[in-house]
Amino acid sequence: MATALTRIDRTDQDQADEDWSLPGWLYNNDEYHALEMERVIRPSWQIMCHVSDIQAAGDYQLLDYIGESVIAIRGEDGAVRAFTNVCRHRAMRLVEGPTGCAKKLVCPYHAWAYELDGRLTGVPARRDYPTLDMAKNGLAPVEVEIWRGFIFVRLQDDGGPSVAEMMAPYEAEVAPYRFEDLRQISPVRLRPRQVNWKNVGDNYSDGLHIPVAHDGLTRLFGKSYAIEAQAHVDKMSGYLVDRPSANPWERVYQQHLPRAEHLPEENQRLWLYYKLWPNAAFDIYPDQVDFMQWIPISPTSCMLREIAYALPDERREMKLVRYANWRINRVVNAEDTWLITRVQQGMASQSYQVGPLGRSEVCLRSFAKKIRRLIPEARLHSAPAPGWSHK
Ligand code: FES
Ligand SMILES: [Fe+2]
Repeated sequence: MATALTRIDRTDQDQADEDWSLPGWLYNNDEYHALEMERVIRPSWQIMCHVSDIQAAGDYQLLDYIGESVIAIRGEDGAVRAFTNVCRHRAMRLVEGPTGCAKKLVCPYHAWAYELDGRLTGVPARRDYPTLDMAKNGLAPVEVEIWRGFIFVRLQDDGGPSVAEMMAPYEAEVAPYRFEDLRQISPVRLRPRQVNWKNVGDNYSDGLHIPVAHDGLTRLFGKSYAIEAQAHVDKMSGYLVDRPSANPWERVYQQHLPRAEHLPEENQRLWLYYKLWPNAAFDIYPDQVDFMQWIPISPTSCMLREIAYALPDERREMKLVRYANWRINRVVNAEDTWLITRVQQGMASQSYQVGPLGRSEVCLRSFAKKIRRLIPEARLHSAPAPGWSHK
C-alpha cells in the first residue's frame, strides 16, 4: 500500500514539475554539486576509449574524474579490466596518463608491483609487513562494460541500466556503423569550459537553438533537424540538403562526401547524434564517429573530452570531407561555447529561478525528470539554506 501511494505521489509530482526547467541554482551550488556527483556521476557509465586504443597486453588508458583516476588496462589474457589508479601502500598514483603501456604496474614511490590483472605480487622488504595479506591488497577494481567496442567504466553500481540497455532502442540504427571496427583518427582532445556540466548536455540536446544560433547547420540540414528522447538516451538527427551551401567548407562536404558502402541508402547523407545519460554523446557521420563527454570539475566548470574515430578508408575524398567536417564543427563548437557560457552567467543572476519548457523540448524534460527523481531538492526553485544535504 505504501509503495503504491509513493508511486502515485511521485507521478503527480513529476506532472507538476514537467513544464519547468531545472532551476538555476543547480548550476552553481557547491552543496548540490557534491550530492550530484555522488548520486548521478559516481553510479553512471563513463566512456574511456575504444578497445583498439589498448590493443596489446599492458596497454592502458586513464580517465580522471570527480577526484578519482581510473585506469583501463589490457591483461596478458586479452581481457580489459579497470582499477583505481591508487597504490595500496601510501595511495600514490601508479601511472601518469593519458595512455601508456606497462609489463607490470610498479609504484614510483616504494616500488610495490602489481600484475596487469591487478594482483599485488611485489613488495620490497616484504618481512617488514608481517600482517600484510598480499591476496587482499590487489588494485581496487572498477566495473567495466564494453559496448560495441567502446569501453565504459562505472565507479558504483546503483542498479542503473547498462550502456547496452540504455542504447537498446537504437541498436538496430547503430549496427551498420560497425563501431567495433572503428579506429582512432585523432588524439584525445581536452577543452576546459567555464560552465556547469549540465549546461553542456542541455545545449547538446536542445533542438530549438539550431535554426537560431547555428547558421551552418541550418544551411546543411534545412528543416530536417529532429530530436527525440528515450528513457536514457536522446537522439538528434539531420539530413544534408542538396542545395549547395554558400559556405566553402560546407559545400566541400556536400559535394565530395563519398558513398559509405557499409551504410544503408537512407544513412548516406545523415548526421546522427545520441546523448547517453548523463554526460556523453556519440556524433555519428557517414565519414566518422566522434565521442564527446563533459566531465564535471566544479559547480561552474567542466572539461570536454573528445576522441574521433573512423573506419579505415584511404580515399582522398574521405580525407577531404573529414577535414571539412572538422572545419564545420569547429564553428558549431565556437557558437555553442558562446551560448553556454552566456547561459551559465545568466543562471548566476538572482532574478532567474526556472524557465518554462515547451512541449517540443522533450530531451530537456527527460533529463530534468531523471535529475529530480535522483535528487528531490532539485524540484525547489531556489536553493535551500546551507546544510540541507546533511539533514
Ligand atoms: S605508495 Fe606505492 S609503494 Fe608506497
Ligand atoms: Fe548547438
